[in-house]
Amino acid sequence: MSTAPEGNPLDLRAWLAQMRELGEIDDVTGADAQLEIGAISQLNVKRAGSRALLFDEIPGYPQGWRVMSCSTSSPRRLSSILRLGTEGSHQGLVQKLRGKPAQWLAGAKDFAPVTVSHGPVLENIQRGEQVNVQAFPAPLWNEKDGGRFIGTGCSVVTRDLESGWINVGTYRVQVVGSDRVTLMMIPGKHGHIQHAKYIEAGKPFPVAIVLGADPLNYLISGIEVPFEVSEFNYIGAILGQPVSVVHGEVTGLPFPSGAEIVLEGFCHQGEAAAEGPFGEFLGYYAGGVGQAPVVRIERIYHRHQPIIMGSPPGKPPNDYSYSKAVMRSAILFNALVQAGVPEVQGVWAHEVGGARLMNVVSIRQRYAGHARQAGHLLSQCGAGAYMSKYSIVVDEDIDPANLSEVMWALATRTEPSEDFDIIRRGMGSKTDPMSIAYPHAAPLASKMVIDACKPFEHLTRFPQVVEPSRELRDRVREKWPGLQLP
Ligand SMILES: Cc1cc2nc3c(=O)[nH]c(=O)nc-3n(C[C@H](O)[C@H](O)[C@H](O)COP(=O)(O)O)c2cc1C
Repeated sequence: MSTAPEGNPLDLRAWLAQMRELGEIDDVTGADAQLEIGAISQLNVKRAGSRALLFDEIPGYPQGWRVMSCSTSSPRRLSSILRLGTEGSHQGLVQKLRGKPAQWLAGAKDFAPVTVSHGPVLENIQRGEQVNVQAFPAPLWNEKDGGRFIGTGCSVVTRDLESGWINVGTYRVQVVGSDRVTLMMIPGKHGHIQHAKYIEAGKPFPVAIVLGADPLNYLISGIEVPFEVSEFNYIGAILGQPVSVVHGEVTGLPFPSGAEIVLEGFCHQGEAAAEGPFGEFLGYYAGGVGQAPVVRIERIYHRHQPIIMGSPPGKPPNDYSYSKAVMRSAILFNALVQAGVPEVQGVWAHEVGGARLMNVVSIRQRYAGHARQAGHLLSQCGAGAYMSKYSIVVDEDIDPANLSEVMWALATRTEPSEDFDIIRRGMGSKTDPMSIAYPHAAPLASKMVIDACKPFEHLTRFPQVVEPSRELRDRVREKWPGLQLP
């Protein structure tokens, strides 16, 4: 990894070199940006042991102008991005991650980015008439997408009008002209809130869109770092070293000095364009066509032979559903502990629900009401409230990440008239395909909390589970190693 004395430039190529040595990269040549890159990426992530993909020799574009996808979709790649070694197993990664988000958040204040005057991102600068975002191989990811989305694994840098706080968020970016892109920020997201303040003040909204960097950049800009904490500081805390940034010529916004491509410009009052449809993270084109603010691009900065970091959503498992499941599970685990829930054994935000719709917590029950407390907090804590349609609580003998075990607990440890609580008018989303049937105009949705634990008052007389004891299991495993018994 890069360790420049003046800070970490968030260089994608340093990470790529490390992954190449570990055999974690597949090179693909000759795939068309029009659908073929998207289809290969979608299919790749669904096969066991899939590697990250680096597309080159893209028809119609200069050799070396590349697109990358599937960067975060394995424990080994994800742990290396998070600087937690190269964990081959999912459980190993989850163990290493425990407690880390709280530590990173606490440390963020000590890692303000450092400004430098040079960096690979400044190797080429398009200004004025030269600006041409269509020169880059922006993929048409899915057959029914409304256009080419150059920003999927991107990080959008914006500044708060009042406090100057720098936010970095992943918001999708569609190309709508040679010097224009749209920015789709969902209401409530930090970039959306900052944009609204500029609009109210009648001022143009400055934006810098980072289209490729060390994948840590987009991993963190794509998760909920708290309001008024800059993701650049948070990334610094993960690295144990500040991020090195340069500042844009027209907005003054900071961006990583080792970034691949950066689009810099402004959203002007009232300027919007048709955006979408786009294949979304729950596996549907649910959002349809909407209007989104336009960014008028005044500068494009890029490295020689730049790489677009792609991270297309789609039917789970998709490009980033694994990383979301891991990151959100760790954050929810911390949130429950901080809210005072004792004996939390594990949390899993399932990929099938886009790491949003279906979350499971396992606890060791200590008192009457413990399971309901855990379930309602999982459903409504700050990091969990958005879209948490099903929150399920299971006992400690159930692995919350194992869908089959969770469904077994649900089938055998619930009494429907007692164990299903419904919360009405909670936070929903238009990306939920069922939003067409939401009973309210605003995205207000109901949520279900399922207590799939053995009833606390009957714990001692609840029927015993039929399975070999640990001693018996160890014995047969040892005697018949060739069978590779679980
Ligand atoms: C690949 C990817 C694409 C995303 N696309 C969008 C998007 O288009 N619009 C949006 O509002 N959020 C999108 N998100 C979710 C946000 O990035 C996420 O909620 C993040 O916390 C937003 O940053 P903020 O908390 O600073 O607002 C996406 C996340 C990922 C990982």
